[in-house]
Amino acid sequence: MSATIIDGKVNAAALRVRVADEVKRLSSQHGLTPGLAVVLAGNNPASESYVGSKAKVTVETGMRSFDHRLPDSVSQADLLALVAKLNADPAVHGILVQLPLPPQIDANRVLDAIDPRKDVDGFHPVNVGRLASGLPALVPCTPLGCVMLAKTAHASLAGLEAVVIGRSNIVGKPVSQLLLAENATVTIAHSRTRDLPAVCRRADLLVAAIGKPEFVRGDWIKPGATVIDVGINRVPGVNGKSKLVGDVNFAEAVEVAGAITPVPGGVGPMTIACLMVNTVRAACAIAGLPPPAV
Ligand code: GUN
Repeated sequence: MSATIIDGKVNAAALRVRVADEVKRLSSQHGLTPGLAVVLAGNNPASESYVGSKAKVTVETGMRSFDHRLPDSVSQADLLALVAKLNADPAVHGILVQLPLPPQIDANRVLDAIDPRKDVDGFHPVNVGRLASGLPALVPCTPLGCVMLAKTAHASLAGLEAVVIGRSNIVGKPVSQLLLAENATVTIAHSRTRDLPAVCRRADLLVAAIGKPEFVRGDWIKPGATVIDVGINRVPGVNGKSKLVGDVNFAEAVEVAGAITPVPGGVGPMTIACLMVNTVRAACAIAGLPPPAV
């Protein structure tokens, strides 16, 4: 038997259409055009590519995009001054400072300086705390995309045994909080977990966010389980070219799982679509409007 493939590209495209519809409605009914500012310091090629895609999708969904490129040598004071300016700018509803930042910058100080209402990454301690307290919050984009994809395979996540492998602030911890908010029974596994395969075999829903290529094997998966693979690992492919693989051995897992996200084309495309969702949500909250339909 072969698992159902959860298509991130199709789901992300549908989500972008729903965002664009909400943006049109906000513009016509309230004269509100959501705006997203993205700040990139330095010229990390992966970051440049992400930032370019973010700007493109922002414009395609009808929102305003503000791009700020700073030199690799930017000072902490100059970066904080830019964040302060964006916090005060009424045309900017979302602020994303691309990580990683150059070594002279204290990333936590920069993230703390972002107005929590504009924190579309959901990394500010206020939003982290609100999510953990079960209060409305801006939540990190990749975890939000993971939960949306899991819900395509389950009418409800309530009561499911969910195992999250990885405890990062960007994915593992927030996805665990989101699954808890959906009433799943959540286990967070990590590098020090004893007998990881046995812990994974309990899972009805397995989220892999480890950063190790094809680490999760087929026999770690409970037959029929849903597998959400957050990994994006570049490994040597054929003919000297590199290829992308996830944290899950897909060829093995697809034979055991009930549903699984591929890499590429699974969680990845959802992240930017969820950033658009967060920007629309932030714009509505700042304008004092009810939450949007996305
Ligand atoms: N770098 C890699 N992923 C992300 C992300 O989701 N947000 C930010 N700000 N930087 C990143």
